Amino acid sequence: MPPAPTFSFAIFCRNECDKDCPLIRAQTRPLPAHGSQRGGKVSTTTETTGTSERQVAHIYNAAVAASAISAAWDIGLLDELRDQGTVDAEEYADRRDLDADSTVGLLRALASVDIVRRDGARAEPAALFDEVYRTRSFFHWLMRGSGGLFREAPEAMRNENRSGSFYQRDSAAIARACREISKFCYDPWFHRAVNGLDFPLTTVADLGCGSGERIMQVLRQFPEARGIGIDVAEPALADATEDAARAGLSDRLLFLHADVLEMAAHPSFAEVQLVTCFMMGHDFWPRENCIRQLRRIRALFPAVRRLILGDATRSVGTPDRELRTFTLGFELAHDLMGTFIPTVTDWESVFEEGGWTLRWKHMIDIAVGEVVFELDPA
Ligand SMILES: C[S@@+](CC[C@H](N)C(=O)[O-])C[C@H]1O[C@@H](n2cnc3c(N)ncnc32)[C@H](O)[C@@H]1O
Repeated sequence: MPPAPTFSFAIFCRNECDKDCPLIRAQTRPLPAHGSQRGGKVSTTTETTGTSERQVAHIYNAAVAASAISAAWDIGLLDELRDQGTVDAEEYADRRDLDADSTVGLLRALASVDIVRRDGARAEPAALFDEVYRTRSFFHWLMRGSGGLFREAPEAMRNENRSGSFYQRDSAAIARACREISKFCYDPWFHRAVNGLDFPLTTVADLGCGSGERIMQVLRQFPEARGIGIDVAEPALADATEDAARAGLSDRLLFLHADVLEMAAHPSFAEVQLVTCFMMGHDFWPRENCIRQLRRIRALFPAVRRLILGDATRSVGTPDRELRTFTLGFELAHDLMGTFIPTVTDWESVFEEGGWTLRWKHMIDIAVGEVVFELDPA
């Protein structure tokens, strides 16, 4: 008589050990004889476990960990780990009035993918901590800022739904994430462009200002200058207004709630010599629209002498398995939102028709083909 068919399953060690851990043991037991009971064939398939099951568990745990990175940054846990080199989740939870079990759970999620090493409630940075800390804002952008969009992806993808406000994102979280992304990505190039201004600066306008941090930086550098921050997202503007007040810049900084793509001229625009626009230029596209928007900027700001435009660009030809942190989330999110992401070549093809001359191009390309263009009115 042939041996009874079996299936295997694995018990995984709760201490996240590798497959040589004695607690991980494949077990086999006989399959119930469904085949013969139904009068059909008995399946002889043996499900093997181990590699693929472990890899899929890793994907799952990484998704939870991505959420945990975003949350851990928000509650200050990442900073605590970086500054103190260790954290006791229970003590931390008590000090910050947080739920202790959830705080230990966050550490466990981080430990599952080697971001921290955990022993009960205590944890310390592990192999991936430094890189995760450096790129924490990408996770915040994804999970907290764009979580609603990905959750509702099936609805957002249906053509019948793709008009009007068909998705939701957390604009304040996006603004916070972008402020951090900017620090290690755009800011060095932005400062270089501002330091190189060859005219006296009295008024600057920032399109899609988000947290307002960029324009506040300019006002700190030029104590006589005035600024105008324009954004369509009220929650982001509310946070920006508070930050400006805290920084003592309210009397020199005006925040306008407006859609940059459709706004009318405002009396405060007449004196603006410098226009900046970071991480929203892709909203000008597609091509004909972008050319129209570039011309509008010149018309809306008649005294403009420089446009500094910084944005991510569409990756070209990167194999699916070699995508860097952020690229995939950024590009899929914009596909879901129906926002065209131009390549660097696309951008370079519109400046002349849009009424601008390219003065300088800084290729940054840290994660999503970031580039800063310095443009003069043609
Ligand atoms: C990715 S964030 C970048 C924020 C900021 N420029 C920075 O560098 O940190 C893009 C910002 O553009 C704003 N935005 C997008 N489309 C806009 C539009 N049509 N008019 C005004 N603001 C817009 C968003 O609300 C968001 O605050």
